[in-house]
Amino acid sequence: MTERIFSGVQPTGNLHLGNYLGAIRNWVALQNDFECLFCVVDLHAITVWQDPAKLRSSTREVAAAMIAAGIDPKKHIIFNQSQVPGHAELAWIFNCVARMGWLGRMTQFKEKAGKDRENASVGLFAYPNLMAADILLYKGTHVPVGEDQKQHLELARDIAHKFNNDFKTETFPIPEPLILGTATRVMSLKDGTAKMSKSDPSDLSRINMTDDADTIARKIRKAKTDPDLLPDNRAGLDARPEARNLIGIYAALADTTVDAAVEEFAGQQFSALKERLSEVAVANLSPIQDEYRRLLDDKATIDDVLADGAERACALSEPVLREVHDVIGFLRPKRKRG
Ligand code: AMP
Ligand code: TRP
Repeated sequence: MTERIFSGVQPTGNLHLGNYLGAIRNWVALQNDFECLFCVVDLHAITVWQDPAKLRSSTREVAAAMIAAGIDPKKHIIFNQSQVPGHAELAWIFNCVARMGWLGRMTQFKEKAGKDRENASVGLFAYPNLMAADILLYKGTHVPVGEDQKQHLELARDIAHKFNNDFKTETFPIPEPLILGTATRVMSLKDGTAKMSKSDPSDLSRINMTDDADTIARKIRKAKTDPDLLPDNRAGLDARPEARNLIGIYAALADTTVDAAVEEFAGQQFSALKERLSEVAVANLSPIQDEYRRLLDDKATIDDVLADGAERACALSEPVLREVHDVIGFLRPKRKRG
């Protein structure tokens, strides 16, 4: 079977260092070994309210970030979900495969819906079914995601299993998660126990892909610390979320291990770590950011990449949908006689 990667990012605001280290950078590394589809999941985005103009610009921004980070859109497929109708169609079919109880257990729904569940969109509840459809529409076998998406991927596996069992077929592969890299969970610069997130109201909590060198340095300088010197062994990071986070980010950006990073800063003050961290952050991010900004000024190129990607994704999805229709018992459209 073809080993095929599928992953997605929502176009819902600023891309930040967590998205880069937890997702996009790892995708760049995978493109030599797999056939890849990378999707800007605009259908997922509208499970909560999105301003239409912002949705359009965020969609282009995510696509631009993927290209700027080094994903080759000629070799692989970069596209936005709503341009390929099969996602919504297979998601409907999976709405009829997944059980209410499975979705009710999803922690992301509980977090996002908050106390007012009655008022959450039906789409927010069914979100994981659409994610399963994204992957399985292409018979995706491997899914690089951050820790936070593991539960959704488990559900995608359950859906693939149940579909195959219910219809006694082997239509779908059971997709494997790929949790890669040292920085699978980048935490807020203001609170080492909270995930770095685009929805955090404080811009100082995250490094955005659009931040210039001075802003990056300033945010790192202002990052929360604790009063102690940095530890000389990894266990010393255990009860120190801020130290763990900054060391983790440093290790990921400097392409070294956490152990080596701990050793490098053993017994030193946070300021030494922050200084080095600023240097590696700027050195790593600025070439990508330059290309990102250049692309954002060239919408036509981004739109061409997305249109070309959608066309190729559609072509891949069509035989899978046809197979699914046959398995379920949907009649195929017949040519009219005469
Ligand atoms: P999202 O921004 O939630 O659409 O996530 C896009 C991708 O980035 C997913 O693969 C997430 O797991 C990953 N991601 C988002 N925030 C973080 C973070 N703070 N640390 C690591 N990965 C993250
Ligand atoms: N739900 C994922 C997130 O918020 C994005 C996503 C949508 C995705 N479809 C996917 C990730 C398919 C991997 C595979 O991060």
